[in-house]
Amino acid sequence: RQLAKIFDVSLRATVPEETDVEPLVAACAGKFGDYQCNNAMGLWSKIKGKGSQFKGPPSVGQAIMKNLPPSEIIESCSVAGPGFVNVLISKNWISKSIQKMLIDGIETWSPRLPIKRAVVDFSSPNIAKEMHVGHLRSTIIGDTLARMLEFSNVDVLRRNHVGDWGTQFGMLIEFLFEKFPNWEEVTETAIGDLQTFYKASKQRFDSDPAFKEKAQQAVVLLQGGEAKYRKAWAQICEISRNEFNRVYERLGVQLEEKGESFYNPYIPNVIKELTDKGLVEESQGARVIFIDGINIPLIVVKSDGGFNYASTDLAAIWYRLNEEKAEWIIYVTDIGQQQHFDMVFRACKRAGWLPLEDNKHPKATHVGFGLVLGEDGKRFRTRNTEVVRLVDLLDEAKSRSKAALIEREKAAEWTEAELEQIAEAVGYGAVKYADLKNNRLTNYTFNFDQMLNDKGNTAVYLLYAHARICSIIRKSGKDIEELKKTGTIVLEHEDERVLGLHLLQFSEVVEEACTNLLPNVLCEYLYNLSEIFTKKFYSNCQVVGSPQETSRLLLCEATGTVMRKCFYLLGIVPVYKI
Ligand code: ARG
Repeated sequence: RQLAKIFDVSLRATVPEETDVEPLVAACAGKFGDYQCNNAMGLWSKIKGKGSQFKGPPSVGQAIMKNLPPSEIIESCSVAGPGFVNVLISKNWISKSIQKMLIDGIETWSPRLPIKRAVVDFSSPNIAKEMHVGHLRSTIIGDTLARMLEFSNVDVLRRNHVGDWGTQFGMLIEFLFEKFPNWEEVTETAIGDLQTFYKASKQRFDSDPAFKEKAQQAVVLLQGGEAKYRKAWAQICEISRNEFNRVYERLGVQLEEKGESFYNPYIPNVIKELTDKGLVEESQGARVIFIDGINIPLIVVKSDGGFNYASTDLAAIWYRLNEEKAEWIIYVTDIGQQQHFDMVFRACKRAGWLPLEDNKHPKATHVGFGLVLGEDGKRFRTRNTEVVRLVDLLDEAKSRSKAALIEREKAAEWTEAELEQIAEAVGYGAVKYADLKNNRLTNYTFNFDQMLNDKGNTAVYLLYAHARICSIIRKSGKDIEELKKTGTIVLEHEDERVLGLHLLQFSEVVEEACTNLLPNVLCEYLYNLSEIFTKKFYSNCQVVGSPQETSRLLLCEATGTVMRKCFYLLGIVPVYKI
């Protein structure tokens, strides 16, 4: 970012008449430089034929280079091909920046984003229905995005938009009354599994017209605020909530529940506003909003006068913009809901709630993701049940990683509590990382053996690499806090420089991951960092006992610090010995 500022100064000086040129500076692991400025060609096409002093892109490039203000960041520059300006970053500056980070903390490397507050709507399972692997993906991806935004100094409202409203509650409540005459005392253990409860009540609903009739009346009574029905509803929600919370607790995920029911009171006014603005039309008894180019309309009031998923989302977006003052609203769900959100956002644009331009705030973005597949290439399911229970999945990840850890010699030195804690960190970390490392739009195959492999691009490999760095520092017997204050980093060896530069790129990578809402960008950075550390730096530069020991220990500590922050942002708990 600092480099972009320097280039900005040069661009102003080179072509003062062009006022709206953004500096295009990107990292470019090449022989000639660490970063490259690619403005020359574009500028040339703008200014040629306007009696310009320049003869072509290369001469524009030369001028950009010449006009660069003196800066301690730059070691040297050169112009290549059609005017690319290559910059070699100063070694001194790299080492100074890393030392400063070690003393002042990694927060000094946090990116700055152009917004103050965001809503991240994620996880959002449905009460009494399955919390399936899709919700697991949403939980993992949403949590990471929230963490990255928080690290970038954005105030994040983490919202669990649970499906706690709707016609299914009529049947659930009636079934509760029927099954448990003492329903007010009924607890989770009595109901057993809410999913099974849901299925049983659905069966009853489908097979008995009298029950169906009662269930439909129950919906009306519930929505009318009848105390007994509200109470039964709250009880069912509470049982579900406890079940969800157990998953969140295990995953270390914080969320605030504002379910569909929360927005219900806001719907009538919101629909009225949209109607007054002329957006809402009558169609086959329902009230709908037509969106250009989409052949189905967005139904906002059903033909029976009831509200639905879309009406709730319109009210929620209204609330988030007006009451919560969010500048960016991010929705994490499977890509199957893309059209729904597309229609909702476009309705908001027509209503003037959101700007028409995509690069302006406030902004709403749907973060879609692909399916989780089983070994057979089909939707992930376990052997005997139809849906995968998330708790079972996490249990298995933990027990498998525990079994693998016990195989290791070192495990004998650990206490049982340590073993438990490391098994959990590795097991849950593996599940999260396997999900996050892929571009979220692609489907991925769930495979315990693969994700728990200690070689390759896995959390296990990364956690090992981190633990090894910690052990290098421990074995040196030096007080690293003391070294941070007194020692200096000198980047002599080429591999030290490569490592140092990569460390420095942490901030721009987080910024990119946030801006494009792509956690895999951070995973890739973390994997490369660990590869550069292990295969380059640590293979070729002796640390303990070498004349450069202090400087190299500081590089180890800086690598450990950045890795720990990456783990944190990905929701993975680091381990210090393995
Ligand atoms: N409950 C929905 C589902 O399970 C996801 C809700 C997503 N958020 C929203 N504001 N629509 O598919």
